[in-house]
Amino acid sequence: MLRGSKVGLRARHEDDIPVLEAELHGDVVNTSRAMGHPWRPITPGSKDSQFVVDDTNQQNVHFSVVELDGGVLAGSAVLWGIDTHNRSAHVGLGLLPSSRGRGYGTDVVAVLCHYGFVVRGLQRLQIETLADNAAMLRSAERNGFVREGVLRSSAWVMGEFLDQVLLGLLAQEWKPEP
Ligand SMILES: CC(C)(COP(=O)(O)OP(=O)(O)OC[C@H]1O[C@@H](n2cnc3c(N)ncnc32)[C@H](O)[C@@H]1OP(=O)(O)O)[C@@H](O)C(=O)NCCC(=O)NCCS
Repeated sequence: MLRGSKVGLRARHEDDIPVLEAELHGDVVNTSRAMGHPWRPITPGSKDSQFVVDDTNQQNVHFSVVELDGGVLAGSAVLWGIDTHNRSAHVGLGLLPSSRGRGYGTDVVAVLCHYGFVVRGLQRLQIETLADNAAMLRSAERNGFVREGVLRSSAWVMGEFLDQVLLGLLAQEWKPEP
């Protein structure tokens, strides 16, 4: 397990999936805001769930987020689109509603930076998030990500086009928490 100050990132367990499906995927508005493709219901036990992990896929590394104190499931995190030529990847995360606003998101981004830069030797990490997602923007910026641009009207979300913000962090800029 990878450890932050408040949360750990471990492998996906079978019994995480129904909880993530119900509490994360089941929230149509938040899923539509976070996913970039249209929400649809997923049959319990379906292999099509976004939370079912294919360990043979070298481009995406999925984690379950757990509280360090007690191991309670807190959410899902991913380093996706790992590009070993350009040594870059994208960061994604979603926390269960009861786990939000407690500093976990900032901590998850810190652990994904450690995984990306130290474990994988990447040079650049990138985050795309909706321009009004204040908690995600702050979680990224607290870890040193800088806003590199606005992708105007790039996301169709629940009946309207919204702007996304592109944030990036380079290995040499990253300052891990001591
Ligand atoms: C976005 C998300 C990962 C952030 O994680 P979090 O644990 O809630 O965020 P944190 O508690 O670490 O807070 C980070 C900062 O945002 C601020 N913040 C938290 N919730 C906020 C809100 N609703 N509005 C404004 N600011 C907020 C915190 O005060 C903190 O600021 P600080 O560092 O100045 O104290 C989490 O809220 C989440 O899973 N949301 C739903 C899914 C999602 O949007 N995923 C990202 C898709 S790109």
